[in-house]
Amino acid sequence: MALISFFSAKGAPGVTSTAMLVAALWPRPTLLVDADGAGGDLQMRLPNESGTALTQHPGLLTLLPLARHGLAPGVVLDHSQVVTGGQRILVGLESPEQSDAAGSLWPTLARSFRELPGYDVIVDAGALSLRAGQLGLVQRGDLAVGVVRPNPASVMHMRQRVAALHDTFRVLGPDAPRLGLVCVEDVQHQGEASSAVATVRGDLPDVLDLGQVALDARAERLFHGDPVARPERTMLVRSGGSLVQRLVAAVGPVIQPDPEPERQPEPDRRPEPATSFTTRRDARSAARSGGAPERHEDGIPEDGGPGRSADSTPPRKRRWRR
Ligand SMILES: Nc1ncnc2c1ncn2[C@@H]1O[C@H](COP(=O)(O)OP(=O)(O)OP(=O)(O)O)[C@@H](O)[C@H]1O
Ligand SMILES: [Mg+2]
Repeated sequence: MALISFFSAKGAPGVTSTAMLVAALWPRPTLLVDADGAGGDLQMRLPNESGTALTQHPGLLTLLPLARHGLAPGVVLDHSQVVTGGQRILVGLESPEQSDAAGSLWPTLARSFRELPGYDVIVDAGALSLRAGQLGLVQRGDLAVGVVRPNPASVMHMRQRVAALHDTFRVLGPDAPRLGLVCVEDVQHQGEASSAVATVRGDLPDVLDLGQVALDARAERLFHGDPVARPERTMLVRSGGSLVQRLVAAVGPVIQPDPEPERQPEPDRRPEPATSFTTRRDARSAARSGGAPERHEDGIPEDGGPGRSADSTPPRKRRWRR
């Protein structure tokens, strides 16, 4: 199964929102993994399907203790949660200290993501340096996509980061992930976006130009749980559709057709309700006050407890018609 990571070099160019966009529009069920080493924020973005805020349990915190002893196939899903709209998410860690402790376990997790039946895995890797623990995950994927904004600082830092990653991946030989770039910018400024990507690529022609994600503040509220009317018509979702097409083309052979017919019903032909990804702000704040089990010094409990028992059937995902 495909494993695609999104990362930044510095700042907050839109990695989390771009990963959410791609996961939502991907042609097969996806598991969206929050691997941001600075501490994940996906769990703050959307509530679960009953409108309750996500907590760290289940999530990486409950999965990592098991990973210390190897992971049985599919066990990752038991530690995931489904958010409103149907996206399956593996909630991330809450601090850099916890992320440091997880560093040596990323290769085990990567293997288990690669073998996850029926799902492709989209990773929010946050800011990625060569010292970052989550590099152990990213470098075992098919694609690592840098997210950049067309301003001098963002371009300069990403150019440096892509060059360093390029060198690091080169020694991995044929198993190395391909590098790609996407620019978040207003669709009116396509020229700036293309030139930012071209500057970052520099003289590395094997780094993929994956185009642009529209800077679309109104539509992007979708990924904070706010209702957006007709998301499929927004520039954000339309640009996300084009990005997904390029990504599918880039990882092509990994994506096999499902052996069984898709269980999801045909997309609804009626107009999309104006309440995609409804939110409960009160539920979000409850996430921060939930009781946590006893922790080790590294913040990761030896026994995070079993994740919520998860049905391995891919959840029904909201589809936006384009
Ligand atoms: N396509 C977009 N259109 C409009 N606003 C966006 C878009 N993508 C992200 N944003 C906004 O930019 C800010 C940063 O986005 P996001 O949290 O996705 O970035 P990030 O790179 O993951 O940052 P961090 O490193 O803090 O995790 C947020 O305020 C978000 O709402
Ligand atoms: Mg983020």
